Amino acid sequence: MDNQSDDFMPCPEDRFTFGLWTVGNRGRDPFGHETRPPIDPVESVRRLAELGAYGVAFHDDDLIPPGSSTAEREQILKRFRAALDDTGMRVPMATTNLFSHPVFKDGAFTANDPTVRRYALAKTIDAIDLGAELGAQTYVLWGGREGVECDAAKDVPAALDCYAEAVNAICEYIRDRGYELEVAIEPKPNEPRGDLFLPTVGHALAFINELDHPEMVGLNPEFAHETMSGLSFHHAVAQTLWHDKLFHIDLNAQRIGRYDQDFRFGSEGIRDAFYLVKLLEEAEWDGVRHFDAHAYRTESAEGVWEFARGCMRTYLVLREKAQRFAADSDIQEALAVAKVDGLTERTLVDGPTPESFAALRAEKFDLDALAAYGYGHERLDQLVTELLMGIR
Ligand code: GCO
Ligand code: MN
Ligand code: MN
Repeated sequence: MDNQSDDFMPCPEDRFTFGLWTVGNRGRDPFGHETRPPIDPVESVRRLAELGAYGVAFHDDDLIPPGSSTAEREQILKRFRAALDDTGMRVPMATTNLFSHPVFKDGAFTANDPTVRRYALAKTIDAIDLGAELGAQTYVLWGGREGVECDAAKDVPAALDCYAEAVNAICEYIRDRGYELEVAIEPKPNEPRGDLFLPTVGHALAFINELDHPEMVGLNPEFAHETMSGLSFHHAVAQTLWHDKLFHIDLNAQRIGRYDQDFRFGSEGIRDAFYLVKLLEEAEWDGVRHFDAHAYRTESAEGVWEFARGCMRTYLVLREKAQRFAADSDIQEALAVAKVDGLTERTLVDGPTPESFAALRAEKFDLDALAAYGYGHERLDQLVTELLMGIR
C-alpha cells in the first residue's frame, strides 16, 4: 500500500495502543443494528501488531465473555497470551465493563442499591486480577452509568461518598495484592446518562484530593469527552500534567455539541489535536498513546484497519509538525514577539516578601506603552495554520 512507504509508519516504539472494543466496534448505534461482524480479540492483536501498534487494552467482558466458565476463561487466556507472545504486543491498561448489563442501569459504584454496588466491586476486583495477570500498569475507571436523569432519585453528595468509597476500596485491593497498578479516572459529561458524575477533568482532579490514596489515582482524559462540553482538551491535559496526574489518555476526535463521536484521531479538530501532540511530545510524557475511537458505521470489516492506521499516522504527522514548529525561524520570531518565554520568569523575583511588595508600590508602570504593545498573534496563528496546511 503506498501510504506505508513514507516516514509515518507506526512502530512499537511509538507506543500506540487500541482498545479491543475500538477496532472491535461493530457500528451499532441507538437507532441501528451492527454493520460489521464481531472480531476475535486474537485477530485484533495480530492485525494491530502488523500495523505497528504497541499493545491493546480491554474491558473484562471484551476478552472473557460474561458467563464463561473457569475452564473457558483459561482457554481464552491461553490463546490470547499466545497471540501476545507471538506478536510482542503488550497490555498496558485494563478496565471493567460496568455499563452494559441492565443491573447497572441506576449506576455501578453510585447505584442506590448497595447490592448492585457490591456486585460492581466484585466484578471490578476480578477485572483487576485479569489486568494484573496480563501485565497492565494502569486500571481505568470510567463511570459510564454513574449519573442520573431523574434528579429527585439521586442524592448527589451521598453518591459521591459511595464513589469515593469504591475507589478507596479498589486502591486497598491493589495494595493488598501488591499489584503495580495505578488507577486512572476517566471523566465524561453525559452519555449514556443524562448527567454523569465527575463530568470533566477539573471535577475528577478535585475528587482525587478527597481519596484515601490520592497518590495512586490520576486521570484518563479523553479528547471527545472534554470537547463535548465545549472545553479545550489540550488545556485539560496540560493542567492534568501540571498536577502530575496524567496516568493515561484516550485519543479520538469530536465536534462540540454532538453525541460522543469517538472518531478517528485528527478527523475533527485538527488544531486541537496538533496542540495536544505538541504538548505530550514536548513534555516527554512517557505514557502510551491510546486510541479510544472507532471506525465510521459505514466502514466495512476490512476498513477498520484503515481507521486504525489513520489514527496512528495522524499522530505521527502531527508529531513531525511539532518538530517543524520548533525549528521554524519565522515561528520562533513570532513567539518572541508574543513574549511566550515571559511566563517562565518569576513575577516577583525575590518572592512575596515585604520588600517585594514595597518595590511593587514604588515601581513605575507605563500603562500606555504596555497597553499599546501588539503581541503579533495574527501572524503567529497564521504561521501555525500554514504549517498545518503543509506549506511550511
Ligand atoms: C465511552 C468511554 C469508554 C471508556 C472505556 C474504558 O465514552 O464509551 O470513552 O470507551 O473509555 O470504557 O474505560
Ligand atoms: Mn468516549
Ligand atoms: Mn474513553
